[in-house]
Amino acid sequence: MKIFKTIKSYQGYRAELKSKNLGLVATMGALHLGHISLVEQSIKDNHITVVSIFVNATQFENISDLNEYPSVLDNDLSLLKQAGVDAVFLPSYDEVYPDNYAFQVQENKLSKILCGAYREGHFDGVLTVVMKLFNIVKPTRAYFGEKDFQQLTLIKQMVKAFFMNTEIIGCPIIRESDGLAMSSRNLRLNMQQRQQAGLLYRTISSHISIKHMQKKLTELGFEVDYIEVMQDKLLVAAYLDEIRLIDNIEYENMQVIAA
Ligand code: PAF
Repeated sequence: MKIFKTIKSYQGYRAELKSKNLGLVATMGALHLGHISLVEQSIKDNHITVVSIFVNATQFENISDLNEYPSVLDNDLSLLKQAGVDAVFLPSYDEVYPDNYAFQVQENKLSKILCGAYREGHFDGVLTVVMKLFNIVKPTRAYFGEKDFQQLTLIKQMVKAFFMNTEIIGCPIIRESDGLAMSSRNLRLNMQQRQQAGLLYRTISSHISIKHMQKKLTELGFEVDYIEVMQDKLLVAAYLDEIRLIDNIEYENMQVIAA
């Protein structure tokens, strides 16, 4: 598995691949089985799979969330090697932001609601870094988890709006045995919070009204940012102490059996 820390060294590698299909899995590290499922899908679909690990400071509206973001690089690299990844792109902030974020990609509709209403500038940071990564890595396809459903939708819309030449593939949420959606942030949960966290999925999939879900989650110790329907999904964001969890489930055919 090759490791590239500079754009220049990566570009040399990319040039040699010529017209081979390349799949990109963009990550911020602290990898889990959700990321590995994206990697596995990319390996199935493409000749070459590249994973980027870059904790993108511009998408954190809260400095303590950035500082607390888990960093376990050695473990990440051994998981990726085991999974059969061809190359890892590990750039520094200065490589990715030579303009120090003077130029930004902004979207003015979907990025302003749901998570965007609570995390100012978050999706500007996400869309900007994803566009930069696509321009550097030049992927044929890029893989994103459906857990971040709003992010996935915005990336698909950006690719369409800017006529970008990368196909976006959304992959299903991977869950722990109690239903908790896998996330790098789960590493920050202590034992008690980890037990509570499983109740988020259980509550939103329990066929009760949104109002009732809100009440129940509050009683269970969550501070709910929102529970809303978008397209055919029910989306939720809630805090357990200072740790923000998001999740979503199919909603279209869901029957509410209790008020
Ligand atoms: O989903 C993530 O891990 C990040 O938002 C992404 C897409 C890697 C951009 O930094």
